[in-house]
Amino acid sequence: MTSNALEKRIKRHVTGRVRDYFVIMNPGIDSGAVAEGEAILTDAERVVPALGGLEFTGKLTDCRRANLFFRTATRVLMRIETFRSERFDRLEKKLFEIPWELYLKPDSPLPEISVTARRSRLYHSDAVADRVRAAIADALPAASGMGKGADQNGEDSELRQRIFVRALEDHFTVSIDSSGEPLYKRGIKVTGGKAPLRETIGAAILRSLGYTGDGPLVDPMCGTGTFSLEGAMIAAHVPAGLYRRFAFERWPAHVPRRWESDRAEAASVIRPQSGLPRIFASDLDGAACNRLQETIAKINLLSDADGHPRWADAIGVGRVDFFDLLPKDLTAEKGTLLLNPPYGLRMGDLKKSRQMYAEIFGRLLSDWKGWQVALIAPDKRLILPDPENGKPLFRERIQSFSHGGLKVFLLTGIVK
Ligand SMILES: C[S@@+](CC[C@H](N)C(=O)[O-])C[C@H]1O[C@@H](n2cnc3c(N)ncnc32)[C@H](O)[C@@H]1O
Repeated sequence: MTSNALEKRIKRHVTGRVRDYFVIMNPGIDSGAVAEGEAILTDAERVVPALGGLEFTGKLTDCRRANLFFRTATRVLMRIETFRSERFDRLEKKLFEIPWELYLKPDSPLPEISVTARRSRLYHSDAVADRVRAAIADALPAASGMGKGADQNGEDSELRQRIFVRALEDHFTVSIDSSGEPLYKRGIKVTGGKAPLRETIGAAILRSLGYTGDGPLVDPMCGTGTFSLEGAMIAAHVPAGLYRRFAFERWPAHVPRRWESDRAEAASVIRPQSGLPRIFASDLDGAACNRLQETIAKINLLSDADGHPRWADAIGVGRVDFFDLLPKDLTAEKGTLLLNPPYGLRMGDLKKSRQMYAEIFGRLLSDWKGWQVALIAPDKRLILPDPENGKPLFRERIQSFSHGGLKVFLLTGIVK
């Protein structure tokens, strides 16, 4: 086929076509995912909740927007094909019929294949993945020649291609991942730090609290500064994906000119807050504070290089013990306090954690009255009312979510 004919097919079937997409989200925190989706995907035909995330129907431009703007999504998958299969010969036939050249470049390294099968006759995920690999290799012989490991070929992990196959009750869905590295990787942090909170979870917690950047935000166990950085991005309207690249940039349908104009338009609304820092990040660990300062300096360099206003200066960093911190030393207003103490299960034991959480509650009740608080705990018992006196804490809500394979709990409320 001539390259012209292929280009036409790509335009007709991928660039210009309305397709179904699935946005993978970390379930647990009620962050108003559909509202977030509707605000981002203004031109999409349909944005609906689905198990493990949400679905939307739209064009490639909506897919680019989803990657650029979603704060709480992990990946955006474009659905390629759905079919039923109970036998390997039919699976092979359906996979070999997929016009892979519309989705993958002829010289791209073979994609990673992720298969999950539930209540299906073809449940052996490695065997299914082998069939997918064979179908792609058949359609794109140059790609198969490049071997399995993308990194061996010097491909950026941000741009790595992945095919997702889900089988549920013999019904197969084949999708291509448009994101590459998971979207919680924003591309701005200086690496290192103990037990960092995922950006998508930090953003979901801030959304669930209704944080828009209006009041002060205090992050007194900041570690790598997830809450502070996400808060600063929300306050200054910085698109979550502005500083990273995406797998779709390697798609045959990708038009760099259009993408550049999307990014420039998105960056044009960055509005840093003027005046003194309104986001206060602190930690007992001086190295963590230094690392966050380095991250802020790195972001400032990136902002300067791109000609965007500096927004990370909204974050003030200091080395302070939370138990020595008084809100009146930071601000006269009441605002939002985000606490992610060291996880007992990973970084200490439950007894120590009990003591620490009891001390935290003591501090909250004595010094932080009127503040909106989000407190993360590795064990629900740490944030339940005191069993001794049955006295309710300031609790308004407890939610649970999964973080790095652990079930974690989140208490939110206003300290009374
Ligand atoms: C689970 S980590 C926080 C991770 C952070 N949210 C992030 O995204 O990187 C807990 C942090 O609490 C800090 N910490 C422990 N005790 C503290 C205290 N008394 N005052 C301030 N920070 C403390 C630790 O140094 C560590 O950086």
